Amino acid sequence: MTSPVDQQWAERIRALAAEKDAVILAHNYQVPEIQDVAHHVGDSLALSRVAATVPQSTIIFCGVHFMAETAKILSYDKTIIIPDERAGCSLAETITAEQLREWKAQHPGAVVVSYVNTTAAVKAETDICCTSSNAVEVVQSIPADVPVLFCPDQFLGAHVQRMTKRKNMHIWMGECHVHAGINGSELKAMVAAEPEAELFIHPECGCATSAMYLASEGVVPQERTHILSTGGMLDAARTTTAKKVLVATETGMLHQLRKVNVTTDFQPVNRAAVCKYMKMITPEKLENALMNGTDVVDVPRDIADRARASVERMIAIGTPSRVGE
Ligand code: 13P
Ligand code: SF4
Repeated sequence: MTSPVDQQWAERIRALAAEKDAVILAHNYQVPEIQDVAHHVGDSLALSRVAATVPQSTIIFCGVHFMAETAKILSYDKTIIIPDERAGCSLAETITAEQLREWKAQHPGAVVVSYVNTTAAVKAETDICCTSSNAVEVVQSIPADVPVLFCPDQFLGAHVQRMTKRKNMHIWMGECHVHAGINGSELKAMVAAEPEAELFIHPECGCATSAMYLASEGVVPQERTHILSTGGMLDAARTTTAKKVLVATETGMLHQLRKVNVTTDFQPVNRAAVCKYMKMITPEKLENALMNGTDVVDVPRDIADRARASVERMIAIGTPSRVGE
C-alpha cells in the first residue's frame, strides 16, 4: 500500500515532469517506487520503441547508461537524462568497438548481431541489434548461408543457437555478472524443493543453458520451463494459472510480476541477483534529475548516425512486448 508520503512524492514527480515537458521511462529492474511513478515501464525493446515515439522534448531514462544512449540514438533532437550517469552495465563492458572491429576483420562477410547491452560505439560497428525478446527472430532474418557474429552475451548466444540450430554462428564470450551468478545447481535445488512450480528464466542466465539441458533430461519439466525476456515474463505472468513461479533474473522484476498477477506466488531463484547499476537510480536522484536536468546523455553525431541504422533494423523486426503505463 502506498503511504501518504510516497503519494506526495509521486505527485511532485509527475507535476515536475509535466512542467519540464519530460516523460519518465523505467526498466523492469528499477526499484518499485520508480516503476510506480514512471509513465512507461518495460523491457529494453519496449522502452526503445517508446523513446522513439514519445512527444515530450525530454526523456528521463531510469535504467542503465546503454539504454539511455539508445534513446538518444533514436531521438537525437531530444534531451536525454539519466539520474546517475555512473549506472553502467557489466555486460556492455565486455566488448569495445576496437575488439569488435578486430573480430569482424577475422570474419569478412559475416553479419554482426549485437545485443542492445552494448555501447553506442559498438552499435555503430553492428549490422543489426537485438534484445532478449527478439534475438531469435533477428538471427532468423539473416540468410542461412551468411555467417553471424553474435555479441556480447554468451548465454543469450547459446539460447539463440539452440533455437535457430544455426551452425555458422560465432559467439562472443561476454556475460552479465548478475545473471551468470544464477547457476544451474541452484536452479536444480529450487526445482527439487518446488516440484509444482513453473520456471521463468531470462536467457542471459548461466542457468538458461543448463535449464534446457535439465529439461531435456527430464530433471526439470520442459512444459513448465520458459525462457523469456523481462517483457515476455510479464506477458506470461498475466495468463499463468500456476500457484508458484520461480523467477531467474534480476529481483527488480518481481515487482511488476506481482502487480500484474496477485494470485500467483512469484519467488526469485536467487535473492542475491541484484544489479547494482540499476539500483544506482534512486527516487532522490530521479527528483534531482527533474529539477536540475542532470546527467545529460550525449552521443557524438557520427556514432549516433551509424548506430541508428542497426537499432532501427532491430525495431523493424522486433516482436511486440507490452509496455506498462
Ligand atoms: P531485457 O531486454 O529483457 O529487458 O533485459 C535487459 C537487461 O539488462 C537484462 O539484464
Ligand atoms: Fe547489465 Fe546485467 Fe545489470 Fe542487465 S542486470 S543492466 S545485463 S549488469
